[in-house]
Amino acid sequence: MEDLDFENRIVSPTEIMGDGDSDNPLRPRRLDDYIGQDKAKENLSVFIEAARQRGETLDHVLLYGPPGLGKTTLSGIIANELGVNLRITSGPAIEKPGDLAAILTNLNEGDVLFIDEIHRISRAVEEILYPAMEDFAIDIVTGKGQMAASYHLPLPHFTLVGATTRAGQLTAPLRDRFGVSLRLELYTPEELAKIVERSACILHIPVEHDGALEIASRSRGTPRIANRMLKRVRDFAQVMSDGVITLETARVALERLEIDELGLDSNDRRMLEAIVKFYKGGPVGLETLAAAIGEEAVTIEDVIEPYLMQIGFLSRTPRGRCITRAGCLHLGLDANAAEPAQLRLD
Ligand code: ADE
Repeated sequence: MEDLDFENRIVSPTEIMGDGDSDNPLRPRRLDDYIGQDKAKENLSVFIEAARQRGETLDHVLLYGPPGLGKTTLSGIIANELGVNLRITSGPAIEKPGDLAAILTNLNEGDVLFIDEIHRISRAVEEILYPAMEDFAIDIVTGKGQMAASYHLPLPHFTLVGATTRAGQLTAPLRDRFGVSLRLELYTPEELAKIVERSACILHIPVEHDGALEIASRSRGTPRIANRMLKRVRDFAQVMSDGVITLETARVALERLEIDELGLDSNDRRMLEAIVKFYKGGPVGLETLAAAIGEEAVTIEDVIEPYLMQIGFLSRTPRGRCITRAGCLHLGLDANAAEPAQLRLD
């Protein structure tokens, strides 16, 4: 079976070339413009207002949930609402304790430091982060032996916003140092339709409500996918009709892009088909499945599976992954292709 390309597909929730960076005009800058995540938003607005009234920095914030739901956007909003600067980095980019020390000592009072994929920082870096978060200070050791000297360096007060797709992978001491912990959920099609309409307005793309809803319902609960799909559907609408995204143009475009009514693309379908054809519907171990389709196990776990499980097409069991009856039916495969005992798991 040829390797699948899960990273560069339209329905990938992770960032790909062309999505735009932190000054992407589609990112809302204020909490009032941020659509969805009502629970997280309401609590956050109270914490921001309280910190502002007291003239203090906001407590450290942990944002967790699947990729593409707006963690970077929210950190920008937090900084903007507090009227401070935002510094963006990521766990893998901070290679040595010295890298983090350099970032921390360059912050200004009250700044927001955003660390994406915070579960990927090394233990040595994490050791620097503890006193920085708790006491706003770092201890630096220079030289060796008799020349060794240690300095206690005070830092400006700052707010750390940590983002992760895997809260369970954070060590307990790190998790405990976040005063605020917010879980982001997949968006409903109605919320995504509002996001599509807002983005279309900013990009001057004429879109009818039905067209926006069609894009939304194929976007796997993820604004990043919805915004990317909007741009591709615009291309079809422009070349094939009068440029307006209607229900009909959205349907035709998404069919041409091979994204089905539930937002599955050919890669999802082939992965599910592989479970049926090669492993009788499962259970199949994650590593075995990863090798069979030429994809990394973590990509399957973090990027592909959450949505397939959310729509009830895939189940995780202690013995491995199984396709569900609903998954088989959607693919037009005989639901009895899988072992009856495994089908009972859905
Ligand atoms: N663009 C991306 N995510 C968004 C959100 N949650 N609200 C508004 N616009 C967005």
